This record gives sequence, structure tokens and C-alpha cells, in this order.
Amino acid sequence: MENLMEAGNPYHEVLLLAIVAGLASHQGFRKYEPTISGFLGVFFSLQAIIFLGIVIRHGSTLEYLVSGAMLTTMFGVIYLGVLGLSIVLYRVYLHPLRHYPGPKLSRITKIEWFFRARDGHFYLHVNKLHKKYGDVVRVGPNDIAFCDPSDTPLINGPLSKMAKGAHADGSPWAKARSVTFVKERAEHRARRRIWDQGFTTAALQQYEPRIASLLERMSDQFASRIGRGCGLGKIIVEPHANFRVEEINFADWTSFFAFDAMGDLGFGNDFGMVEKAMKMRIVWMTLPWCKYIVNYLPIDDEMKEQTKQFVKFGNERFDARKAKGTTRADIFSHLLAHDQESGGRILEVELREDAKAIIIAGSDTTSFALVAILYCLIQHEQAYEKLEKEIDALNAKGLIRGTTLGPEQAPYINGVINEALRLFPPAPEPTQRTYGESPYILNGKLIPPHTNCYVSVYTLARDERNFSAADKFIPERWIETARPEMFNHNTKAFVPFGSGLFNCAGRTLAQLELRQFIATLLYRFHFSAGRSFNPQSFLTSLRSNGTMESGGLPLLLTARNAKCSH
Ligand code: HEM
Repeated sequence: MENLMEAGNPYHEVLLLAIVAGLASHQGFRKYEPTISGFLGVFFSLQAIIFLGIVIRHGSTLEYLVSGAMLTTMFGVIYLGVLGLSIVLYRVYLHPLRHYPGPKLSRITKIEWFFRARDGHFYLHVNKLHKKYGDVVRVGPNDIAFCDPSDTPLINGPLSKMAKGAHADGSPWAKARSVTFVKERAEHRARRRIWDQGFTTAALQQYEPRIASLLERMSDQFASRIGRGCGLGKIIVEPHANFRVEEINFADWTSFFAFDAMGDLGFGNDFGMVEKAMKMRIVWMTLPWCKYIVNYLPIDDEMKEQTKQFVKFGNERFDARKAKGTTRADIFSHLLAHDQESGGRILEVELREDAKAIIIAGSDTTSFALVAILYCLIQHEQAYEKLEKEIDALNAKGLIRGTTLGPEQAPYINGVINEALRLFPPAPEPTQRTYGESPYILNGKLIPPHTNCYVSVYTLARDERNFSAADKFIPERWIETARPEMFNHNTKAFVPFGSGLFNCAGRTLAQLELRQFIATLLYRFHFSAGRSFNPQSFLTSLRSNGTMESGGLPLLLTARNAKCSH
């Protein structure tokens, strides 16, 4: 019996079929980008069809089965080759985004993006690309980053008609979507109406005493450590000073504070799992198609385990909080309420995910903001002195309630907060939006269907055209009467909390926490650079996994207006 491989015809037929299938698949995948499991499904189905076709046509003797298997393998290899080649050639020479400037590799694949994101430096990479290629850069095959403030509000601002993109496809382990991952505008708007009830002035006034009490407890901890010389930090006796100071890792303390605040006002605290869970999140947010096989990827096992622990922990905290009902005034009690416009409620499976969103979105961000503020202050003595002066005056008047510390009452506190958030946005990754299936004209630029548009938050705020002396810490720029004349000051370029429909739900709460922390703790204690503080090491330690983290901030702590038992 003639061997199939020697027969000639089947070989040519399979070759032709592989080429046609490869080209056809590419056309299909351009419209409906598959997940990795979807792709494998298509691939193995095609293999099975080819193999069965050969067997049905030529018989199922051992000889034909073996040559059929060889031909099927050949089909697979050629199919993958043609598909790959077709994708590469299309993305480089025919793709509608081909005229946008950007690195060659980014036109073909997001692999560099993935590695930069994994190392926590993607926002810096995009910043460099803008410097090299301009305000509009192709950062991925279907991805364009923008840093011109006349473009960016049309992407993520109040005027935008775009929805969230594939970044917000949601966690592979979740049974429902948290508010963060609701991509469609109408559905998101309904969900946010319920969320927003938890951040009104009235709601914040209920949270305020609880934040004050957390700060009291923290203040007591600091005071007792200075007094007794025990605790987290080590006591240092300054040679020419008649008071004792303590070196602390400030980043640890802000983390305790921010997690405790979310624990008290939201659901619970996580003791270190969030960081790992965020690292895992960046994997499937960057390459959404691989999210269902993320557990099998060669990445840190501890990270996988911690992520599962975090999911379990979030669920347990949710159950514990749900059992308490609506009697307690916290964010959760508002999420349990119904939407006053539509009468709808958040489903329990969704609430479970929202519980985790509160922990993830509300803790590391606020904690890092405080670290950034202190990092800036300890290096700018004059600014720190001005701030202490304002804080002392406010304390003398008894005006240290976070809800009353707006820019009019506390211009310098707010200037310092804004300036630190501008230089070090706690969520510095470019925010992704898409217009979906329709083409879109953005300020005269054609945005083809399925393009992901990104707002380069970090770059916008560090651009001299938007903020003069952009790399310098100058809180006065936020105070109209104190801003140096002729200073560029473009508030459209300042979006640390995002902007528009999908902006940060907890912005008002975060501002309340930051203001109250500064007005209370910086009144009672003075912080200065610790012995092991090195500005360069601090900067190189910064990583963003969606939210920013630092390698620590060693500070010396001395009492100002705190009662310590020396
Ligand atoms: C300094 C502190 C904070 C910063 C800088 C910050 C920043 C951000 C940013 C940039 C976004 C994404 C916006 C976008 O996609 O355009 C966001 C979303 C969000 N943030 Fe915050 N955040 C902070 C604190 C908080 C707090 C305390 C909470 C309280 C729970 C919170 C809850 C949320 C939620 C729920 C979302 C998702 C909103 C949505 O998709 O509708 N954030 N935040």
C-alpha cells in the first residue's frame, strides 16, 4: 500500500489547507481576538479535522494512521508559521496604526510591555517613548499612548465616549466583576451611582471621627516609642541634642494606617497579600488572552499562592462584614443600598468582588501617597517649615477635621498633597480606554476599530509644557496667589485620580485621609531623613504593579507637640 507522504497529492493538499487556514484564522482573530484557550481550541480542532479527513479518505491501517499523524503535524507547523508570518507582516506593513511612530518591536508584540510591566517600570518606559517619538506613540500592536492634554480628556475625561478596554477584562478567578472591571459605560454608570453614595460629604463626615481615632492610636504608638525606646525602629541618641529620636520605616506605618482605614471603613485588612495579588494582576491585565493559563505560566509560585490567599481572605472578610448588616456606617453599608435612580442593587457575587476592589484600590494608593509626601518634604526644608506653620495655625484654631481642610482653609497642605501626587502618582500606569468596533476621530487623528488608547498619566504631569520646572517640588504652584508668574500650570495634565466616568471612586476619601494625616501627625511629630536614607535608592526602589510601591522610607522621628515620657 502506498505511503501517504510519498503519494505527493495529500502533501500538497495539506500544505495548501494549512496556508489557507493560517490566513483565514488571522482574519478571524483580527475581529475576535481569542484567549489562549480559545486559540488552542481552534488549533486542535483544525488538527483533528485534517487527521480525520485523511483517515476517512485513505483508510485506517497502521501505515496510514502514522503518515496521517505526520501530515497533521506538518499541517500544524505550517499553519502556525503562516499565521505568525501573516500577523507580523500585517502589523508592520498593513495595520491602520502603521503610520503612528513607535518602536518596531511594539508594532508586532506586547512582549516588551509584559516584561517592563512585570518589573514595575512600564510607566517609565512609556515616558521614554514619548520623549523619543512624540505625544502620540504606538506602544503595542493595537495600542496608542497619548500625552497631549488637548487629546487626553477625549480619552478618559468628562467628554470621553470611550469605554474601558481589555485591561478591565477581570480576574480569571472571579465569578463576577468588581466596579473596576465593568467596561460598558451604561452598566458602569449604574454601578457607580451606588458606589458614589459611599463618598458624599455626609458619608465622609461619618468616617472622619474613625480616621481621627486611627491617627490618635498611631500617634500614641509613635509617642510611646520615642518615650520608651522600644518598638519597630531603633532609638538613636543624637550627640548634640537633648531629645531622643527614633528611626522608623515610614512606609510600614503608612501601610498599617491605610490598611486599617480600609479595614475600618470598608471590609478588612490583608497583611501583605495585596502586593503579590497586584503583581499577578499585572500579568493578566497586560496579556488578557493568557489569563486562563496564568496558573501554568513560569512565574513566581509564591505570587500564585498569595493571590489565591488574597481571594480567600477577601471572601472571608466579605462574609464577616455581610453578617453585620447595614447598621455600621462604612462604605459597605452604602454598597448594600439600592440605586436611587433605577432601584437596582449590586448583586451579592458582584459585592464580593467590590470588597476586594476596596482593599486593592484604597490601601496601597493612599499609603504610597503619604510616603511620596514625606519623601518630598524631608528634602525641601523651606516647604516643610511653611507646611508646619500652616498646620500649627490650624491646630491652634482646632481646625483639623479632614472634611474642612479644603484648599481655601489649608492651601499649603493641599499644595503639598497635589505636588507629591503630581511627581509621584500612586497609580502611574497609562489608563486604557477603547471605542470598540467603530472607528473614531480623536482631535483629527483616525483611531481604527479595536484600538486601545492610553493616557500617559506620569508623562503628562512631568511635561514642562504643562508644568514649569516639572521635576521640581514646588507646592506654591497649586496656590494661585503664590504661583510664580509665567509658570505653566495646566490642570488638565494632572490626573492622579483619573478623570471622567471611570475616575477614582474613593478620591474624596483619599483626600480626607491625606489631609487629616498631615494635619494631625505632622503637628505632633517632625520627620527627617533617616541615617540610611538615600534619595537615589528610594527612587530606584519604586515599582508600579498598577499601584506604586517603594522599597521603604527610613525617617527619624522627633516629638513636636506630642506628649512623650523622655
Ligand atoms: C491617593 C489615593 C488614591 C489614588 C491616587 C487613586 C487613584 C485611582 C486611579 C488612577 C483610578 C483609575 C481611574 C481610571 O481608570 O481612570 C482609581 C480607581 C478607583 N479607585 Fe482610587 N485612588 C486612591 C484611593 C482610593 C480609595 C481610598 C478608594 C476607596 C475605596 C479608591 C477606590 C477606587 C475605585 C473603586 C476605583 C475604580 C473606579 C471605577 O472603575 O469606577 N481609591 N483610583
